[in-house]
Amino acid sequence: MAKKEIQKDQKDKKGKKDKKTVNVGILGFGTVGSGTARILVENAELLKGRLGFPVVLKKIADLDISKDREIALGKGVLTTDSRQVTDDPDIDIVVELIGGLGVARELMLRAIKNGKHIVTANKALLAEHGQEIFEAAKKYGVSIGFEASVGGGIPIIKALGEGLIANRINYVYGIVNGTSNYILSKMTDEGVEFSKVLKEAQELGYAEADPTLDVGGADSAHKLAILASLAFGIPLSYKSVYTEGITGITPLDIAFASELGFKIKLLAIAKAADGQVELRVHPTMLPKDYLISKVDGVMNAIFVNGQETGDTLYYGRGAGDMPTGSAVVSDIAGIAQRIMSGAPPKSGLAAVNISGAPMGIRPMEDVESMYYFRFAALDRPKVLSRISGVLGENNISIASVIQKGRKEGEAVPLVILTHKAREKDVRRALKKIEGLRAVVTGKNCLIRVEGEE
Ligand code: HSE
Repeated sequence: MAKKEIQKDQKDKKGKKDKKTVNVGILGFGTVGSGTARILVENAELLKGRLGFPVVLKKIADLDISKDREIALGKGVLTTDSRQVTDDPDIDIVVELIGGLGVARELMLRAIKNGKHIVTANKALLAEHGQEIFEAAKKYGVSIGFEASVGGGIPIIKALGEGLIANRINYVYGIVNGTSNYILSKMTDEGVEFSKVLKEAQELGYAEADPTLDVGGADSAHKLAILASLAFGIPLSYKSVYTEGITGITPLDIAFASELGFKIKLLAIAKAADGQVELRVHPTMLPKDYLISKVDGVMNAIFVNGQETGDTLYYGRGAGDMPTGSAVVSDIAGIAQRIMSGAPPKSGLAAVNISGAPMGIRPMEDVESMYYFRFAALDRPKVLSRISGVLGENNISIASVIQKGRKEGEAVPLVILTHKAREKDVRRALKKIEGLRAVVTGKNCLIRVEGEE
């Protein structure tokens, strides 16, 4: 080491030795911001006992600081000026809990440039701009903690990055959106329409006023991109995630699924095979006796299959102030320990590439799955043979068929379950089947099926 570097090293070490506390600033005092602040304040002694030094909540910035969150904050902690968090030389860790891609990104990059370590719950920002953020963190030598970005209070990021570090990962799949799971569970239990349950969920505060990200699948896709990047060491690939939401699911399909022995869940799936990873979010039929089929309401659950461990399952609350706050504070504690011990920063995904050789993304057209089709078909001779003929011509083999009811001259539901088939073949076949005169266009349904053949 050159003389100058040695002097700097000694100065850094001395700085850390003299440091008595780690100071935290929070951007955003909404649901998760409140949970995080409450834990930092109310569990301050517990944290100090475990860490051996205090973590001090120095500032919270939000546009609305008049609302009483019933947290005993010291005088001067609240501010409407975000710069008092991002630019305060005394603040070591900036916690970004604003959400979204605009202001949150701007303030996070500003804080990074000011040498602040970052903790965030912002899955959309990481999934869509993660590369830029992790590069900036590396450049400025700061850590990024994002445990709260997936699965709320479930420590899934640590499980993938630390607990399973010895494994090659074969697959990760799970229910990572509580809103959609709540809606599907309610539709299943009560046999009611999607729109009715969504309205109720909004009234109860379980669904956002704009639920598009949740029920459209994008929130699950953001989370899957983060999980897959950790599990397979691939770049954040949000744009490569095939995404379908739950808005097209009807009580009729839920009833047919039940009759066939399945439940419908919005699954986020990342599977590795032959050097490629498939990334998909869509409603999925799962055998009723699978553990994941029993995960109902707002709960989340994630399966990770490691080569050495086999299946491991992580279950818990995927949202809410205190569970998500718990995940945020775990990152604060981890970074605080690194600061106090003088450990180098941990700036994210590249450090936890645990899958060996780089993998490509499998195009959705090449993905194989079993399928459930429901056609609205006229109940007359040869219709089934025409449909099955098209499926056969496209290498799709039928596993079972149900047709119920009879209305002269009207369409009835014709349900077909297939063996494993290729998405490309399925799309081609469906196009042809929708063109048949006996099949009503726009009234048909496709749901992918997971499980043993
Ligand atoms: N909107 C998310 C959900 C919240 O419904 O699960 C946590 O990311």
